[in-house]
Amino acid sequence: MNKTVVVLGASQGIGAALVEHMAQIEGVHVIALSRNLVRMKSRFLQPNVSCYQLDIAKNVTKQLNAIHFSNPIDILVNNAGLLINKPFEQLSHQDFTESYQVNVIGIMEATQTLLPHLSPKAHIVNISSMGGFQGSLKFAGLAAYSTSKAALCAFTELFAEEFKNTGIHMNCLCLGAVQTEMLSAAFPGYVAPTSPSEMAQFISDFAFNNRKHFNGKIIPVSSSNP
Ligand SMILES: NC(=O)c1ccc[n+]([C@@H]2O[C@H](COP(=O)([O-])OP(=O)(O)OC[C@H]3O[C@@H](n4cnc5c(N)ncnc54)[C@H](OP(=O)(O)O)[C@@H]3O)[C@@H](O)[C@H]2O)c1
Repeated sequence: MNKTVVVLGASQGIGAALVEHMAQIEGVHVIALSRNLVRMKSRFLQPNVSCYQLDIAKNVTKQLNAIHFSNPIDILVNNAGLLINKPFEQLSHQDFTESYQVNVIGIMEATQTLLPHLSPKAHIVNISSMGGFQGSLKFAGLAAYSTSKAALCAFTELFAEEFKNTGIHMNCLCLGAVQTEMLSAAFPGYVAPTSPSEMAQFISDFAFNNRKHFNGKIIPVSSSNP
């Protein structure tokens, strides 16, 4: 197969593991995007991985328009995320705006800008959290994070409705705990049951094999809390 995949938030954690996993699949070209270009270039040495700097917190459209996408994008994984863990009373205006800028607005603007580059049967996979899944157990300190991840879920349903007469499908995976830098910073000492590479394999399988059967779906991917 000849497939082009774009991963937002690819420099570490789940995104980096996803780039590595997908790059092993024959015929797949992965475009890795995040702020830390040096880290990506030193980690992804495979010839079928292209790395570009992108900060989804500012001028997303301008930055993405500077990148040349030579082939239609078959899979877009909106994985970039920011977690601020603070008691609600201590969350500042900047904490709220940064959380929403990265987890919601940046993702929506990136998706909007990449629309003309998507293949007619593209699959967009948003990476949300169990914290943003309605009815799930909530964790103190994650008001900015979990509400922004819930907004990403709502965006998924909205997008699927607006694009229902096209072949472009969008789904949202609400992940449980995965052992990454983000998790260690938010829950020091907690040992997650899932590694980044295990989660990357799941996301890759879902992205490649489930476009046809899912659209606008919010899917919990968790065997544990948090
Ligand atoms: N780990 C978990 O337990 C867990 C659970 C549920 C959901 N999730 C979600 O899974 C996704 C990946 O999380 P992770 O645990 O792998 O986190 P991570 O290790 O902190 O990685 C986050 C990634 O997002 C990128 N990113 C952050 N801000 C960005 C910005 N302004 N512009 C572009 N890229 C940005 C980072 O790259 P740069 O710093 O280089 O920009 C990094 O590659 C996130 O959306 C997270 O909310 C994680």
